[in-house]
Amino acid sequence: MVEENFIPKKYTNSIENGSFTWSSPSNIALVKYWGKKEHQIPENPSISFTLNHCKTTTKVGFSKKEDADNFSFDIFLDNEKKDDFKPKIETFFKRIEIYLPFLKAYHFKIETSNTFPHSSGIASSASGMSALALCLMSVEKELLQDVSEENFTKKASFLARLGSGSACRSLEGDLVVWGSHEAIEGSSDLFGVKYPYQVHPNFKNYQDTILLVDKGEKQVSSTIGHNLMHGHPFAQERFKQANKNLSDMISILKDGDLDKFIALVESEALTLHAMMMTSMPYFILMKPNTLKIINKIWTYREVSGSKVCFTLDAGANVHMLYPENEAENIQEFIKSELVTYCQKDEYINDKIGFGAKLL
Ligand code: PMV
Repeated sequence: MVEENFIPKKYTNSIENGSFTWSSPSNIALVKYWGKKEHQIPENPSISFTLNHCKTTTKVGFSKKEDADNFSFDIFLDNEKKDDFKPKIETFFKRIEIYLPFLKAYHFKIETSNTFPHSSGIASSASGMSALALCLMSVEKELLQDVSEENFTKKASFLARLGSGSACRSLEGDLVVWGSHEAIEGSSDLFGVKYPYQVHPNFKNYQDTILLVDKGEKQVSSTIGHNLMHGHPFAQERFKQANKNLSDMISILKDGDLDKFIALVESEALTLHAMMMTSMPYFILMKPNTLKIINKIWTYREVSGSKVCFTLDAGANVHMLYPENEAENIQEFIKSELVTYCQKDEYINDKIGFGAKLL
């Protein structure tokens, strides 16, 4: 599959107006994507758990314009007009116009809302960009008519990637791989694919509690962070390591070996942040409370024999991953020892989910 395959053939149908609503989840990477080439091509493959509760719902209304000279759209977050979101959407539209040539022919009203607090420091770009890509694909499906479900999802993921890399992992499936890897059949740099191999029941309903350590805006955007991997002294080794970690993950997922899972996932999280700390200019996204929580988790694990582990995104918040049968104990642990390190005592209980839905 190459990029040109996503340019549609001539539209056979015409449509004046309509609307589509999609709900799409966030995801949390186990093997991280950090560093990209031109056109949002990842430097290394990644794999993520799809989340269940942390979602964006987006409704896109569209009506035919007189002319097709410019992009025309309005965007609302929780019913409030958000002109400051416009440049990001305009950039996204410019990138995908060649693949969705109807974009300038309509005026779009984009209404979006998140199930998680907007200012929670949780990346809303993955759920937001995937929900928007799906709505636009629904419009294209009307214009083309004969689009198979498989091609629909593949192209939606391809488009979502052009909005925000990790967004292409939020479309379908509980575990999603993005980035070409020799041991994973069907994997591609262009879109995310459902993890195609056996997964041990230990991972069924795997839990993710997100401890909100810092709900502010990120100090360094992920675009800048990715760019700092160009010429980074450890970049090539890191990309090799991610490939190897993804190979190792295949047998971990098959065997349900939670000790190996913990070691790999925590190492990935710390490596991601180590790359940030060793960039030039360097930066630190963890906060003192991030480290306090990590140490508490390590102690808890040692004392209790729990299989809980942590992972991090590009921010200070801590994702606690643990098997379903530990949910009750972990909730107690959070309430008694960890909530004090969360901003305004806030955390979000989530778990592995199954992808986006047309509403
Ligand atoms: O999707 P982006 O470009 O915002 O990059 C995010 C990358 C990480 O969240 C830090 C890791 C990952 O693989 O999701």
